[in-house]
Amino acid sequence: MTVTSSWTEANSQTFLDYGRYFVPERERQIETICGLIPSALEGAKIVELCCGEGLLAQALLERLPDATVRGMDGSPEMLAAAGKRLAGFGERFQPQHFDLAGSDWRSAIRDAHAVVSSLAIHHLDGPEKQALFADVYRMLAPGGVFVIADVIAPAGKQAESVAAEAWDWAVRQRSLELDGNLDGFELFQREEWNLYRYFDPDDIDKPSPLYAQLQWLAAAGFVDVDVYWMQAGHAIFGGVKGE
Ligand SMILES: C[S@@+](CC[C@H](N)C(=O)[O-])C[C@H]1O[C@@H](n2cnc3c(N)ncnc32)[C@H](O)[C@@H]1O
Repeated sequence: MTVTSSWTEANSQTFLDYGRYFVPERERQIETICGLIPSALEGAKIVELCCGEGLLAQALLERLPDATVRGMDGSPEMLAAAGKRLAGFGERFQPQHFDLAGSDWRSAIRDAHAVVSSLAIHHLDGPEKQALFADVYRMLAPGGVFVIADVIAPAGKQAESVAAEAWDWAVRQRSLELDGNLDGFELFQREEWNLYRYFDPDDIDKPSPLYAQLQWLAAAGFVDVDVYWMQAGHAIFGGVKGE
């Protein structure tokens, strides 16, 4: 398999080129996720599901000098970009090709201190997310944390409209900040990336309501399930595997 079952290498290229415009408060999101990994951990084993070009992995490796990150992704292009970015960390970054929806890789991960994922789990449907949450629980050591950053499905039309407006606004601001023009925002519109405005049920995006996902985390056994940050339909949430 050279690409994931639905995400394509063309998607990877678009995201590599324009992710810096399309992701609201990207640096703040990365900081928030890093802040949820217990800093006292020595030799922490961190697993990142769908690591992309390795921005989050880089932040984790910089902040936790003894940690290793297994960076998993289904896109050869993304894994190559991550490998290049993180070459300086040597064996502390362990890239691995995988299919998020597959099950073959799941039983091989045990005693992880943290499992993190950014902007990827929404490619699974609801039942697949529930199965993943239960499997991630089994991958973690007691006290381990599962942190998800992702787009979520607004609970109703009003909330969907608020999320659509807020995402457009965030990308407009970002374009202006980065380049002093709206080229990045115009591409965001042309690509119809704002799924709250251009939602297609047959598309690769299958976001689930945040409230349902919190319940699925609790049902999988996680405690202290919470939402840590949210903006423009993007949320960071997760839970802890009790000691
Ligand atoms: C929107 S990008 C996010 C990348 C990175 N996590 C970030 O936040 O910058 C989605 C990532 O998920 C990966 N992906 C999507 N579906 C996948 C699947 N079924 N199996 C493995 N990787 C997948 C893509 O290759 C891509 O790297």
